[in-house]
Amino acid sequence: MLEIKGLIKRYGNAEIPTVKGISFEVNDGEIFGFLGSNGAGKTTTIKCICGILPFDEGKILVDGIDMKENPHDAKLKIAYISDNHAVFERLTGREYVNHIANLYNTPKEEREKIINPLLDAFGLKQAYDRQIKSYSHGMKQKINVIAGLVHSPKLWVLDEPLLGLDPQSALELKNIMRQHAQKGNIVFFSSHILEVVESLCDRVGILNKGVLVDVIDLHELKKKGKSLEEIFITSTNKDVSYINKKFMRVKDHSEIKVDDKNADKKAFAIIHRVLNLK
Ligand SMILES: Nc1ncnc2c1ncn2[C@@H]1O[C@H](COP(=O)(O)OP(=O)(O)OP(=O)(O)O)[C@@H](O)[C@H]1O
Ligand SMILES: [Mg+2]
Repeated sequence: MLEIKGLIKRYGNAEIPTVKGISFEVNDGEIFGFLGSNGAGKTTTIKCICGILPFDEGKILVDGIDMKENPHDAKLKIAYISDNHAVFERLTGREYVNHIANLYNTPKEEREKIINPLLDAFGLKQAYDRQIKSYSHGMKQKINVIAGLVHSPKLWVLDEPLLGLDPQSALELKNIMRQHAQKGNIVFFSSHILEVVESLCDRVGILNKGVLVDVIDLHELKKKGKSLEEIFITSTNKDVSYINKKFMRVKDHSEIKVDDKNADKKAFAIIHRVLNLK
């Protein structure tokens, strides 16, 4: 299970945080879609979940392991496919995947069993021994996916994974995401393509300016004959500025003196009270 409890993330000294105390859970075996307009805070949240960005307040538990208290063990459970395909360009595909497999201590026989079907599915066998710098955008995405899955992660996080993939490769990736969840793992991904999200996910969370405004069960939604597009437009148009006011009010709170060394800590404690977070 992935548990997010009252996550608050601010960049630098910004008065209003980018992620404003969001809480939700994703169960084993689920595919969870993370939606929101540009700049809503999806990538920021994802980077906090994966232990890439530090966060100010709240808890993130990956399969019961606290990301703040035990980041090494939590990260061993995760694979993260970023939105910018950062890979070691001078390595060949094979060298890169083996490097990642070594980092995660995946035994040699086991990694072959995982890698070979993925190379076939993505049609990447021919290019596997070529330097990654010669790969196209989509090929880099595919080698990243293979390297990500080589340690059979409990939690697979993907940030806009279908961007730039051709239709055949997009179909293969969607199948691989389904298969990964069917094994009892969690697939968590952000996307702007509502049709894909609707066809792939069990549930979705909708982020609006750093506030989680809706978590929707898509199986229920289908039964009701409603479209995700309708819900998305309503959710992303909701006025959430009242939460900003709460953060501002906290700043002005008389309990906090400007010269107090613990001013930040006190402010967060009050924010949590105001937002009813545990
Ligand atoms: N390193 C940073 N420093 C300061 N502000 C940042 C930084 N990274 C992101 N932000 C700001 O945080 C907000 C959320 O950005 P984020 O990238 O999380 O949004 P997103 O939901 O992933 O958007 P998109 O759909 O465009 O990918 C934006 O206002 C962005 O400008
Ligand atoms: Mg993003």
